[in-house]
Amino acid sequence: MIAEETSQDNSGHNARSAQSQKSVLKLTHCKVRPASLANNGALYPQVRGGVDGAICRITSQGRGAVTFDLRRTVDECNAAGAADRSFGEHINPRFAKVLGLIGFDRHYVRALGPHLWDSAGNKFLDMIGGYGVCNVGRNHPVVRRAIEDALALELPNWVAFEAPPLAGALAGELKRRVGRGLDRVFFTNSGTEGIEAAIKFAKCATGRAGLVSCHRGFHGLTTGALALNGCPSFRSGFEPLIAGTRQVPFADLAELECQLRSGDVAAFVVEPIQGKGVHIPPAGWLKAAERLCRKFGTLLIVDEVQTGVGRTGAFLGIDHEADVEPDILVLSKGLSGGMIPVGAVMTRVGVWDRVFSSLDRSIIHSSTFQMGTLAMAAGLAALSVIDDEKLSARAAAMGDLLRIGIEDMRPRYPSIGAVRQRGLMLAIEFIRPTGLLERAAWDLIHAADKNLFTQATVIPLMSDHRILTQVAGHDMDVLKLTPPLCIDVGDVRWFLDGFAATMNKLHQTAGPVRQLVAGLGRNALFGSKAQ
Ligand SMILES: Cc1ncc(COP(=O)(O)O)c(C=O)c1O
Repeated sequence: MIAEETSQDNSGHNARSAQSQKSVLKLTHCKVRPASLANNGALYPQVRGGVDGAICRITSQGRGAVTFDLRRTVDECNAAGAADRSFGEHINPRFAKVLGLIGFDRHYVRALGPHLWDSAGNKFLDMIGGYGVCNVGRNHPVVRRAIEDALALELPNWVAFEAPPLAGALAGELKRRVGRGLDRVFFTNSGTEGIEAAIKFAKCATGRAGLVSCHRGFHGLTTGALALNGCPSFRSGFEPLIAGTRQVPFADLAELECQLRSGDVAAFVVEPIQGKGVHIPPAGWLKAAERLCRKFGTLLIVDEVQTGVGRTGAFLGIDHEADVEPDILVLSKGLSGGMIPVGAVMTRVGVWDRVFSSLDRSIIHSSTFQMGTLAMAAGLAALSVIDDEKLSARAAAMGDLLRIGIEDMRPRYPSIGAVRQRGLMLAIEFIRPTGLLERAAWDLIHAADKNLFTQATVIPLMSDHRILTQVAGHDMDVLKLTPPLCIDVGDVRWFLDGFAATMNKLHQTAGPVRQLVAGLGRNALFGSKAQ
């Protein structure tokens, strides 16, 4: 039986669902009267959820009541310990424990730009930026507005047999910025998915099976991308992966040539700057690698998942070198506007034509969720914000300020070694100090684990200074920063003051170090996923 309220709603949707599903919708407790729906022709009521306390209850005869109010759910999650408990119970108890051990078990209730707030109103400086996702900053009003507009316009999503207009627009915007003859764009939903597509494209275009990547390289954690991973600890437990895949030392031309000479290599896959530890190759190396690839018929795949979209002080990481011309380029992270996952694989027409080689093969590689309307809207908005706010230039300026500030501390804190930085991709390498006391502390901590000194920096930065940072990877003494590109001088000062105070404490006495070793044991000994 059709309930009284919905029977007044003459929308086609209810009529159709009543016919086809033999079930009807009944709206109760809804602020907006169904009569108004008939007036504006909307299929759904303007549900305001918890904004003004109203709850929209939709009941579907035969299916029971469905009640949903996001704000109430958020409140429930934020209730003391609830989020922790459910994450630990349902998702990842080990990671939940790690978060607790290093003092990262916080409940953030709000985020804006480079800042987060917890439920007590404490403000945090985010120098991780979601592994370098939030280039434009969190909850950027332009990105938000784009998503809200897409929703308000009731734009279709994933129609599948259509040419999504926003995807065409985003592809055009990317091509305008990237150039280099990379004239076809394939959209994905993540970085690793982009790498998987690039691997398939390269194999198909060359008819070869081999892949070469670099030691310490990181390209994602799905099977194909993992096969390229240059860190054994990530691969451990999942091998064998893709046969014919091998790694060469980063920036080693002789070794690369040796591998390419075999003639079976479809692609050389490389980051312009390695995320894991932030390693910047010598000038001219990437162009020389490109020449070698051309010589041996191998495609050059440049992974700009992390370095792209303004991160390094230019739109692309390869923009710092003259004339590097990849055959395939992969973007993701910053393109999302920090809101909706998205990635893009840009290829030469010649490569694309060999993959999508006939009408029959026109969607030979695709995925259900690619070119989502919200993702395309977020990507377009993110690119426009990067331009309008000159975020690449800002990344360069703020990154330089950070580096100079850290380098200035070196005479005072002898465990600060190399500071590697390009734009807002920055690593601080710690080295064994020379002083007796400091050296004893260093040795003690390294006897337990290679990452622990850096962890001893990450923990007080968070607990004493409310700054989020991360260890750059497995088995390295490197602290990594990839903050949103919108940080300002005040944020740089905030970090430098917190870092100096932390270094001071660590260099003064072995006390905090001992405490840390006792507290963590071998429990929190890990490098971050992505770097
Ligand atoms: C250079 C690089 N490539 C690929 C990936 C994988 O991206 P995702 O985590 O979106 O799968 C990452 C992630 O950190 C990355 O840094």
